[in-house]
Amino acid sequence: MLRYFTAGESHGEALVAFLSGLPAGLKVDQAFLDRELWRRQQGYGRGGRMKIERDSAHILSGVRHGMTIGSPISVQLENRDWKNWQESLPVGEGDPALHKRVASPRPGHADLAGALKYNFPEARYVLERASARESAARVAIGALAKTFSHVVAVGNVALQQEIPWEQIQALYNQEEILLNCADPDVQQRMKEEVDKVYKTGDSLGGVFEVVAHGVPPGLGTYVQWDERLDGLLAAAVMSLQAVKAVEIGSGISAAASPGSAVHDEIGYGNAGNFSGFTRTRNNAGGIEGGVSNGEEVRVRGYLKPISTLRRPLQSVDFSTRQPVGAAYERSDVCVVPAAGVAAEAMIALTLARCALDKFGGDSMGETLRNFQGYCLQLKNY
Ligand SMILES: Cc1cc2nc3c(=O)[nH]c(=O)nc-3n(C[C@H](O)[C@H](O)[C@H](O)COP(=O)(O)O)c2cc1C
Repeated sequence: MLRYFTAGESHGEALVAFLSGLPAGLKVDQAFLDRELWRRQQGYGRGGRMKIERDSAHILSGVRHGMTIGSPISVQLENRDWKNWQESLPVGEGDPALHKRVASPRPGHADLAGALKYNFPEARYVLERASARESAARVAIGALAKTFSHVVAVGNVALQQEIPWEQIQALYNQEEILLNCADPDVQQRMKEEVDKVYKTGDSLGGVFEVVAHGVPPGLGTYVQWDERLDGLLAAAVMSLQAVKAVEIGSGISAAASPGSAVHDEIGYGNAGNFSGFTRTRNNAGGIEGGVSNGEEVRVRGYLKPISTLRRPLQSVDFSTRQPVGAAYERSDVCVVPAAGVAAEAMIALTLARCALDKFGGDSMGETLRNFQGYCLQLKNY
Protein backbone atom coordinates (compact mmCIF):
# COMPACT_ATOMS: atom_id res chain seq x y z
CA MET A 1 0.00 0.00 0.00
CA LEU A 2 1.36 3.42 -0.95
CA ARG A 3 1.40 5.68 2.10
CA TYR A 4 2.91 9.11 2.64
CA PHE A 5 3.04 11.93 5.13
CA THR A 6 5.02 15.08 5.81
CA ALA A 7 6.51 16.91 8.81
CA GLY A 8 8.03 20.34 9.39
CA GLU A 9 7.23 23.92 10.30
CA SER A 10 7.22 26.74 7.74
CA HIS A 11 10.18 28.50 9.44
CA GLY A 12 11.67 25.40 11.09
CA GLU A 13 14.98 23.80 10.16
CA ALA A 14 13.61 21.53 7.42
CA LEU A 15 10.60 19.80 5.89
CA VAL A 16 10.59 16.01 5.78
CA ALA A 17 8.44 13.70 3.63
CA PHE A 18 8.02 9.93 3.95
CA LEU A 19 6.79 7.64 1.19
CA SER A 20 6.35 3.93 1.79
CA GLY A 21 5.12 1.23 -0.62
CA LEU A 22 6.83 2.09 -3.93
CA PRO A 23 8.12 -1.08 -5.65
CA ALA A 24 11.88 -1.63 -5.95
CA GLY A 25 13.57 -0.75 -9.23
CA LEU A 26 11.91 2.59 -10.07
CA LYS A 27 14.47 5.02 -11.50
CA VAL A 28 14.82 8.21 -9.42
CA ASP A 29 16.18 11.33 -11.10
CA GLN A 30 17.38 13.91 -8.58
CA ALA A 31 17.42 16.70 -11.21
CA PHE A 32 13.76 16.02 -12.03
CA LEU A 33 12.75 16.21 -8.34
CA ASP A 34 14.56 19.53 -8.02
CA ARG A 35 12.92 20.93 -11.17
CA GLU A 36 9.49 20.08 -9.71
CA LEU A 37 10.40 21.92 -6.52
CA TRP A 38 11.57 24.90 -8.58
CA ARG A 39 8.23 24.93 -10.45
CA ARG A 40 6.33 25.06 -7.14
CA GLN A 41 8.31 28.17 -6.20
CA GLN A 42 7.39 30.08 -9.40
CA GLY A 43 4.48 32.23 -10.56
CA TYR A 44 3.66 35.93 -10.69
CA GLY A 45 2.26 36.93 -7.30
CA ARG A 46 4.64 35.04 -5.01
CA GLY A 47 6.09 36.81 -1.96
CA GLY A 48 9.64 37.40 -0.68
CA ARG A 49 10.02 33.96 0.92
CA MET A 50 10.47 32.28 -2.46
CA LYS A 51 13.46 34.56 -3.14
CA ILE A 52 15.16 33.16 -0.02
CA GLU A 53 14.50 29.46 -0.62
CA ARG A 54 16.26 27.27 -3.24
CA ASP A 55 14.43 24.00 -2.68
CA SER A 56 16.36 20.82 -3.28
CA ALA A 57 15.34 17.29 -2.29
CA HIS A 58 17.91 15.59 -0.07
CA ILE A 59 17.02 11.89 -0.21
CA LEU A 60 17.94 10.17 3.06
CA SER A 61 16.70 6.62 2.50
CA GLY A 62 14.96 4.17 0.18
CA VAL A 63 16.94 5.06 -2.98
CA ARG A 64 20.34 3.56 -3.85
CA HIS A 65 22.29 3.80 -7.13
CA GLY A 66 19.48 5.93 -8.61
CA MET A 67 16.76 3.32 -7.97
CA THR A 68 14.09 2.72 -5.35
CA ILE A 69 14.89 -0.38 -3.26
CA GLY A 70 11.40 -1.06 -1.87
CA SER A 71 12.26 0.42 1.56
CA PRO A 72 10.52 3.57 2.87
CA ILE A 73 11.78 6.72 1.17
CA SER A 74 12.52 9.80 3.27
CA VAL A 75 13.35 13.19 1.81
CA GLN A 76 14.54 16.33 3.57
CA LEU A 77 14.12 19.89 2.28
CA GLU A 78 16.23 22.52 4.00
CA ASN A 79 14.52 25.80 4.96
CA ARG A 80 17.10 28.50 4.21
CA ASP A 81 14.94 30.98 6.13
CA TRP A 82 15.64 28.96 9.31
CA LYS A 83 18.78 30.96 9.96
CA ASN A 84 16.57 34.04 10.49
CA TRP A 85 14.25 32.16 12.85
CA GLN A 86 16.49 30.05 15.10
CA GLU A 87 16.02 32.38 18.05
CA SER A 88 12.30 33.01 17.61
CA LEU A 89 11.32 29.39 16.93
CA PRO A 90 13.82 27.20 18.86
CA VAL A 91 13.24 23.53 19.62
CA GLY A 92 14.57 24.15 23.14
CA GLU A 93 13.09 26.63 25.58
CA GLY A 94 14.93 29.67 24.18
CA ASP A 95 14.27 33.26 25.13
CA PRO A 96 10.50 34.00 25.27
CA ALA A 97 11.24 37.68 24.55
CA LEU A 98 12.40 36.70 21.04
CA HIS A 99 9.25 34.71 20.19
CA LYS A 100 7.32 36.24 17.24
CA ARG A 101 3.65 36.30 18.21
CA VAL A 102 0.84 36.33 15.64
CA ALA A 103 -1.16 38.71 17.77
CA SER A 104 -4.45 38.97 15.84
CA PRO A 105 -5.88 36.12 13.74
CA ARG A 106 -6.19 36.61 9.96
CA PRO A 107 -9.74 35.98 8.67
CA GLY A 108 -9.52 33.10 6.18
CA HIS A 109 -6.30 31.63 7.61
CA ALA A 110 -6.10 28.77 10.12
CA ASP A 111 -5.06 31.17 12.94
CA LEU A 112 -8.23 31.40 15.05
CA ALA A 113 -9.58 27.86 14.48
CA GLY A 114 -6.11 26.41 15.23
CA ALA A 115 -5.49 28.52 18.35
CA LEU A 116 -8.90 27.52 19.76
CA LYS A 117 -8.33 23.84 18.94
CA TYR A 118 -4.81 23.51 20.43
CA ASN A 119 -5.40 26.04 23.22
CA PHE A 120 -2.55 28.34 22.11
CA PRO A 121 -2.67 31.94 23.43
CA GLU A 122 -1.74 33.21 19.93
CA ALA A 123 -1.31 31.72 16.44
CA ARG A 124 2.44 31.34 15.74
CA TYR A 125 2.50 27.52 15.91
CA VAL A 126 -0.74 27.32 13.90
CA LEU A 127 0.68 29.36 11.04
CA GLU A 128 3.90 27.35 11.11
CA ARG A 129 2.20 24.07 10.23
CA ALA A 130 -0.92 25.27 8.36
CA SER A 131 1.29 27.22 5.92
CA ALA A 132 1.54 25.88 2.38
CA ARG A 133 5.33 25.73 2.75
CA GLU A 134 4.39 22.14 3.65
CA SER A 135 3.26 21.55 0.06
CA ALA A 136 6.94 21.57 -1.03
CA ALA A 137 7.38 18.25 0.78
CA ARG A 138 4.39 16.81 -1.09
CA VAL A 139 5.90 17.96 -4.40
CA ALA A 140 9.18 16.20 -3.57
CA ILE A 141 7.53 12.80 -3.14
CA GLY A 142 4.89 13.43 -5.83
CA ALA A 143 7.71 13.85 -8.36
CA LEU A 144 8.19 10.08 -8.16
CA ALA A 145 4.99 9.80 -10.29
CA LYS A 146 3.91 12.49 -12.81
CA THR A 147 1.03 14.60 -14.20
CA PHE A 148 0.92 18.19 -15.56
CA SER A 149 -1.14 21.29 -14.78
CA HIS A 150 -2.03 24.68 -16.21
CA VAL A 151 -3.92 27.72 -14.91
CA VAL A 152 -7.45 28.35 -16.22
CA ALA A 153 -8.46 31.39 -14.13
CA VAL A 154 -7.02 34.14 -11.94
CA GLY A 155 -9.64 36.31 -10.25
CA ASN A 156 -12.19 37.17 -12.94
CA VAL A 157 -9.96 36.42 -15.93
CA ALA A 158 -10.67 32.94 -17.29
CA LEU A 159 -9.65 30.78 -20.27
CA GLN A 160 -12.70 29.84 -22.32
CA GLN A 161 -11.36 26.91 -24.38
CA GLU A 162 -10.16 23.43 -23.43
CA ILE A 163 -6.37 23.08 -23.76
CA PRO A 164 -5.04 19.86 -25.32
CA TRP A 165 -2.51 17.66 -23.52
CA GLU A 166 0.41 18.53 -25.85
CA GLN A 167 0.06 22.25 -25.05
CA ILE A 168 -0.13 21.61 -21.30
CA GLN A 169 2.93 19.39 -21.51
CA ALA A 170 4.79 22.13 -23.43
CA LEU A 171 4.17 24.58 -20.56
CA TYR A 172 6.26 22.27 -18.39
CA ASN A 173 9.43 23.25 -20.29
CA GLN A 174 9.06 27.01 -19.74
CA GLU A 175 12.14 28.58 -18.19
CA GLU A 176 10.11 31.47 -16.78
CA ILE A 177 6.72 30.79 -15.23
CA LEU A 178 4.41 33.80 -15.11
CA LEU A 179 0.90 32.42 -14.51
CA ASN A 180 1.28 29.09 -16.32
CA CYS A 181 -1.61 29.83 -18.68
CA ALA A 182 -1.47 28.32 -22.19
CA ASP A 183 -2.98 31.40 -23.89
CA PRO A 184 -0.51 34.35 -23.85
CA ASP A 185 -3.24 37.04 -24.15
CA VAL A 186 -5.29 35.59 -21.29
CA GLN A 187 -2.08 35.22 -19.25
CA GLN A 188 -1.30 38.90 -19.80
CA ARG A 189 -4.78 39.84 -18.50
CA MET A 190 -4.26 37.55 -15.50
CA LYS A 191 -1.00 39.39 -14.75
CA GLU A 192 -2.84 42.72 -14.89
CA GLU A 193 -5.31 41.37 -12.29
CA VAL A 194 -2.39 40.46 -10.01
CA ASP A 195 -0.82 43.91 -10.54
CA LYS A 196 -4.11 45.50 -9.41
CA VAL A 197 -4.07 43.64 -6.07
CA TYR A 198 -0.37 44.41 -5.55
CA LYS A 199 -1.35 48.09 -5.75
CA THR A 200 -4.36 47.84 -3.45
CA GLY A 201 -2.88 45.51 -0.80
CA ASP A 202 -5.41 42.80 -1.66
CA SER A 203 -5.05 39.19 -2.94
CA LEU A 204 -6.50 36.84 -5.57
CA GLY A 205 -7.58 33.22 -6.03
CA GLY A 206 -8.26 31.29 -9.23
CA VAL A 207 -8.53 27.88 -10.85
CA PHE A 208 -5.90 25.34 -12.00
CA GLU A 209 -6.46 22.16 -13.96
CA VAL A 210 -4.37 19.00 -13.64
CA VAL A 211 -4.40 16.54 -16.53
CA ALA A 212 -3.18 12.94 -16.30
CA HIS A 213 -2.57 11.37 -19.72
CA GLY A 214 -2.31 7.64 -20.38
CA VAL A 215 -4.27 6.49 -17.32
CA PRO A 216 -5.58 2.96 -17.99
CA PRO A 217 -9.26 2.15 -17.47
CA GLY A 218 -9.97 0.39 -14.20
CA LEU A 219 -8.26 2.49 -11.48
CA GLY A 220 -10.55 2.98 -8.46
CA THR A 221 -13.83 1.16 -7.94
CA TYR A 222 -17.53 1.75 -7.25
CA VAL A 223 -17.76 -1.24 -4.87
CA GLN A 224 -17.00 0.83 -1.74
CA TRP A 225 -17.55 4.55 -1.18
CA ASP A 226 -13.99 5.17 -0.02
CA GLU A 227 -12.38 3.42 -3.00
CA ARG A 228 -13.93 5.61 -5.71
CA LEU A 229 -11.27 7.37 -7.80
CA ASP A 230 -13.26 10.63 -8.04
CA GLY A 231 -13.65 10.75 -4.23
CA LEU A 232 -9.97 9.98 -3.65
CA LEU A 233 -8.82 12.65 -6.11
CA ALA A 234 -11.24 15.22 -4.70
CA ALA A 235 -9.94 14.60 -1.16
CA ALA A 236 -6.31 14.75 -2.32
CA VAL A 237 -6.76 18.10 -4.10
CA MET A 238 -9.09 19.57 -1.44
CA SER A 239 -6.42 18.79 1.18
CA LEU A 240 -4.18 21.46 -0.38
CA GLN A 241 -4.06 24.79 1.39
CA ALA A 242 -6.60 27.35 0.03
CA VAL A 243 -8.39 24.89 -2.32
CA LYS A 244 -12.12 25.26 -1.60
CA ALA A 245 -13.75 23.34 -4.47
CA VAL A 246 -12.74 20.51 -6.78
CA GLU A 247 -14.22 19.71 -10.18
CA ILE A 248 -13.85 16.48 -12.15
CA GLY A 249 -14.14 17.01 -15.92
CA SER A 250 -16.85 19.59 -16.61
CA GLY A 251 -18.73 18.73 -13.40
CA ILE A 252 -19.70 22.32 -12.55
CA SER A 253 -21.24 23.33 -15.87
CA ALA A 254 -22.73 19.81 -16.19
CA ALA A 255 -25.01 20.54 -13.23
CA ALA A 256 -26.80 23.15 -15.35
CA SER A 257 -26.88 21.22 -18.66
CA PRO A 258 -29.13 18.47 -20.08
CA GLY A 259 -27.72 14.92 -20.13
CA SER A 260 -27.50 14.90 -23.92
CA ALA A 261 -25.02 17.81 -23.81
CA VAL A 262 -22.92 16.26 -21.05
CA HIS A 263 -22.40 12.53 -21.40
CA ASP A 264 -19.62 11.32 -23.68
CA GLU A 265 -21.00 9.13 -26.48
CA ILE A 266 -19.30 5.76 -27.02
CA GLY A 267 -17.96 4.41 -30.30
CA TYR A 268 -15.80 1.48 -31.32
CA GLY A 269 -12.80 1.35 -33.67
CA ASN A 270 -9.05 1.08 -33.82
CA ALA A 271 -8.26 4.46 -32.25
CA GLY A 272 -9.33 3.70 -28.65
CA ASN A 273 -7.07 4.08 -25.64
CA PHE A 274 -6.13 0.64 -24.23
CA SER A 275 -9.29 -0.99 -25.70
CA GLY A 276 -11.24 -0.46 -28.93
CA PHE A 277 -13.82 1.81 -27.28
CA THR A 278 -13.70 5.51 -28.23
CA ARG A 279 -15.25 8.78 -27.03
CA THR A 280 -15.94 11.97 -28.97
CA ARG A 281 -15.41 14.21 -25.91
CA ASN A 282 -14.39 13.93 -22.27
CA ASN A 283 -16.85 15.83 -20.07
CA ALA A 284 -16.55 13.02 -17.50
CA GLY A 285 -12.90 13.94 -16.93
CA GLY A 286 -11.86 10.32 -17.47
CA ILE A 287 -13.88 8.88 -14.57
CA GLU A 288 -17.28 7.15 -14.59
CA GLY A 289 -18.71 5.26 -11.61
CA GLY A 290 -15.63 6.07 -9.54
CA VAL A 291 -13.47 4.15 -12.07
CA SER A 292 -11.03 5.55 -14.66
CA ASN A 293 -12.41 4.93 -18.17
CA GLY A 294 -9.21 5.27 -20.24
CA GLU A 295 -9.66 8.94 -21.19
CA GLU A 296 -7.50 11.76 -19.78
CA VAL A 297 -8.19 12.36 -16.09
CA ARG A 298 -8.96 16.10 -15.72
CA VAL A 299 -9.32 17.66 -12.26
CA ARG A 300 -9.73 21.36 -11.43
CA GLY A 301 -8.99 23.00 -8.09
CA TYR A 302 -10.63 26.29 -7.08
CA LEU A 303 -8.50 28.49 -4.81
CA LYS A 304 -9.84 31.16 -2.53
CA PRO A 305 -7.77 34.38 -2.38
CA ILE A 306 -4.75 34.42 -0.03
CA SER A 307 -5.85 35.49 3.45
CA THR A 308 -2.81 37.54 4.55
CA LEU A 309 -3.65 41.06 3.36
CA ARG A 310 -1.38 44.10 3.35
CA ARG A 311 -4.57 46.13 3.87
CA PRO A 312 -5.85 43.89 6.68
CA LEU A 313 -9.43 42.94 7.44
CA GLN A 314 -10.94 43.50 10.86
CA SER A 315 -9.84 41.13 13.62
CA VAL A 316 -9.37 41.01 17.40
CA ASP A 317 -6.17 41.06 19.48
CA PHE A 318 -5.60 37.62 21.11
CA SER A 319 -4.55 39.25 24.44
CA THR A 320 -6.73 42.33 24.86
CA ARG A 321 -9.79 41.16 22.82
CA GLN A 322 -9.89 44.69 21.40
CA PRO A 323 -10.65 45.22 17.69
CA VAL A 324 -7.48 45.55 15.56
CA GLY A 325 -6.42 44.91 11.96
CA ALA A 326 -5.48 41.25 11.28
CA ALA A 327 -1.78 40.35 11.62
CA TYR A 328 0.38 40.80 8.51
CA GLU A 329 3.64 39.10 7.64
CA ARG A 330 5.40 38.72 4.30
CA SER A 331 3.03 36.87 2.01
CA ASP A 332 2.17 35.74 -1.50
CA VAL A 333 -0.75 37.55 -3.17
CA CYS A 334 -1.61 34.91 -5.82
CA VAL A 335 -0.45 31.27 -5.89
CA VAL A 336 -2.57 29.54 -8.56
CA PRO A 337 0.37 28.15 -10.63
CA ALA A 338 2.19 26.89 -7.50
CA ALA A 339 -0.98 25.26 -6.16
CA GLY A 340 -1.33 23.54 -9.55
CA VAL A 341 2.15 22.02 -9.16
CA ALA A 342 1.29 20.82 -5.64
CA ALA A 343 -1.96 19.33 -7.01
CA GLU A 344 0.01 17.51 -9.74
CA ALA A 345 1.90 15.79 -6.93
CA MET A 346 -1.29 14.87 -5.03
CA ILE A 347 -2.97 13.52 -8.17
CA ALA A 348 0.14 11.59 -9.22
CA LEU A 349 0.39 10.01 -5.75
CA THR A 350 -3.31 9.11 -5.73
CA LEU A 351 -3.15 7.54 -9.20
CA ALA A 352 0.07 5.72 -8.26
CA ARG A 353 -1.64 4.36 -5.15
CA CYS A 354 -4.63 3.09 -7.16
CA ALA A 355 -2.34 1.63 -9.84
CA LEU A 356 -0.29 -0.21 -7.20
CA ASP A 357 -3.51 -1.43 -5.54
CA LYS A 358 -4.54 -2.90 -8.90
CA PHE A 359 -1.23 -4.15 -10.27
CA GLY A 360 0.66 -4.82 -7.01
CA GLY A 361 4.26 -5.99 -7.13
CA ASP A 362 7.30 -5.58 -4.88
CA SER A 363 9.59 -4.82 -7.82
CA MET A 364 8.95 -2.71 -10.91
CA GLY A 365 9.47 -5.84 -13.04
CA GLU A 366 6.62 -7.60 -11.25
CA THR A 367 4.34 -4.53 -11.40
CA LEU A 368 5.02 -4.02 -15.12
CA ARG A 369 4.32 -7.70 -15.87
CA ASN A 370 0.97 -7.41 -14.11
CA PHE A 371 0.21 -4.18 -15.96
CA GLN A 372 1.13 -5.63 -19.36
CA GLY A 373 -1.04 -8.70 -18.70
CA TYR A 374 -3.96 -6.41 -17.96
CA CYS A 375 -3.31 -4.34 -21.11
CA LEU A 376 -3.47 -7.55 -23.15
CA GLN A 377 -6.78 -8.44 -21.48
CA LEU A 378 -8.16 -5.01 -22.48
CA LYS A 379 -6.94 -5.37 -26.09
CA ASN A 380 -8.60 -8.78 -26.39
CA TYR A 381 -11.82 -7.67 -24.71
C1 LIG B 1 1.39 27.35 -2.86
C2 LIG B 1 0.62 28.08 -1.80
C3 LIG B 1 1.17 29.20 -1.19
C4 LIG B 1 0.46 29.92 -0.22
N1 LIG B 1 1.03 31.06 0.33
C5 LIG B 1 0.33 31.76 1.25
C6 LIG B 1 0.88 32.97 1.81
O1 LIG B 1 1.97 33.40 1.46
N2 LIG B 1 0.12 33.65 2.71
C7 LIG B 1 -1.12 33.20 3.12
O2 LIG B 1 -1.75 33.84 3.92
N3 LIG B 1 -1.65 32.06 2.62
C8 LIG B 1 -0.95 31.33 1.71
N4 LIG B 1 -1.51 30.17 1.20
C9 LIG B 1 -2.83 29.73 1.67
C10 LIG B 1 -2.82 29.28 3.13
O3 LIG B 1 -1.81 28.29 3.36
C11 LIG B 1 -4.20 28.73 3.54
O4 LIG B 1 -5.21 29.64 3.15
C12 LIG B 1 -4.27 28.55 5.05
O5 LIG B 1 -3.38 27.51 5.44
C13 LIG B 1 -5.69 28.19 5.58
O6 LIG B 1 -6.13 26.99 5.04
P1 LIG B 1 -7.43 26.91 4.07
O7 LIG B 1 -7.33 28.08 3.12
O8 LIG B 1 -7.28 25.61 3.33
O9 LIG B 1 -8.64 27.01 4.92
C14 LIG B 1 -0.83 29.47 0.19
C15 LIG B 1 -1.38 28.33 -0.41
C16 LIG B 1 -0.69 27.64 -1.41
C17 LIG B 1 -1.31 26.42 -2.04
